[in-house]
Amino acid sequence: MRLSHRAQIIQESAIRKLDGAVAKAPEVHFHKLNIGQPDVPTPPSVMAALAHGDSPVLAYGPSSGLMACREAAAAFHARTSPGVGPEHCVVTQGGSEALLFAFTALCDPGDEILVPEPYYTNYNGFATVAAARVVPIRTRLEEGFRIPPNEELDKHVTDRTRIFLFANPGNPTGAVYDEADLRRVAEWARSRGLWIVADEVYRHIWFTRSPLSALQLTGHEDHVIVVDSTSKTFSACGLRIGFLLSRNLALMERVERLGQARLGAQPRAQHAAIAALALPPEFYDELRATYRARVDAMMTALAALPGVSFHRPEGAFYTMARLPVPDTEAFARYLVTEFRDHSTGRPESLVVAPGPGFYANPADGRDVVRLAAVKNPAEVRRGVEILGAALAAYPR
Ligand SMILES: Cc1ncc(COP(=O)(O)O)c(C=O)c1O
Repeated sequence: MRLSHRAQIIQESAIRKLDGAVAKAPEVHFHKLNIGQPDVPTPPSVMAALAHGDSPVLAYGPSSGLMACREAAAAFHARTSPGVGPEHCVVTQGGSEALLFAFTALCDPGDEILVPEPYYTNYNGFATVAAARVVPIRTRLEEGFRIPPNEELDKHVTDRTRIFLFANPGNPTGAVYDEADLRRVAEWARSRGLWIVADEVYRHIWFTRSPLSALQLTGHEDHVIVVDSTSKTFSACGLRIGFLLSRNLALMERVERLGQARLGAQPRAQHAAIAALALPPEFYDELRATYRARVDAMMTALAALPGVSFHRPEGAFYTMARLPVPDTEAFARYLVTEFRDHSTGRPESLVVAPGPGFYANPADGRDVVRLAAVKNPAEVRRGVEILGAALAAYPR
């Protein structure tokens, strides 16, 4: 029986594609630096709120989310972006669904989404579902993955371009865009009639300067959408609660319709999100200190490896590392299927996310891998140590 074109072209997750090979070697202790799943405990108040209420029925909630949850998220954003209210915020099933809603609300089949590359691999999947196309704009490790000048951006605009999408801080780059660049890009997008979709799921994890939210770009209220999530900030990836925010009320009305088609996000999870959004400012200081220690451990360990170059993340918890191997896809498979480090008495190895998955053309990114500093510093150090041992042993 025939499957749709979209089902046939949808990309396998570059981050998860080695999972099968890992499962086949249960005797090996794999250090998983491939996936953005932190081991930081979810705050107890968030866990407790999951048990909210005494209703005997797990009922549907409203399509745009519980009003209390929308109010909590709006108030949270209004601290930095005054005037944001619940009418500007819809609760989604993770930042993922907010991205899908944004693409679906803004793109017709065949429309194009510009994104600085390397980029979060699942943008491809959401674009495929929305029948849109991701058009990459190359950024470079040596330049800190900065957004290129407007003349370069212009080369990628066609009459099908609808969105300029970016993650700030970036996954997989760890780059934080400075305010001047964001304002420049917002102006440029407006002059070309494009929406800005700012993926801010890592906004609270930063090490140099606090990232500016696109909601803070005054004068751009009508063409900005922000995607937010409880996943990384509150170490609650399994909660599946995110937010789509925009001050464009005509758009928000259509997003409400999209939400009606899938009924609503899980109400208990929304109560947990409300508890998360009520955490005090010290929570965020601790969050940043936790990831700073992990990222620092990774940077120090990587700096000790000959022939490896990398970008020190300014935010999020990923780095793109350039490795002295001809093909990181093959090297990542070698780590999972062949290389074993026996120095501690038990077989150990490493899982990394090969670079090509973060590029539109899989022929690109063969010299880099993405590493996630999501585990405690000792584990991160050990993972990078294994990387060094594997690079030394790799047959060339
Ligand atoms: C840049 C970026 N955007 C969105 C998401 C999706 O997050 P969520 O768990 O909220 O769906 C992720 C998850 O890793 C991400 O890295």
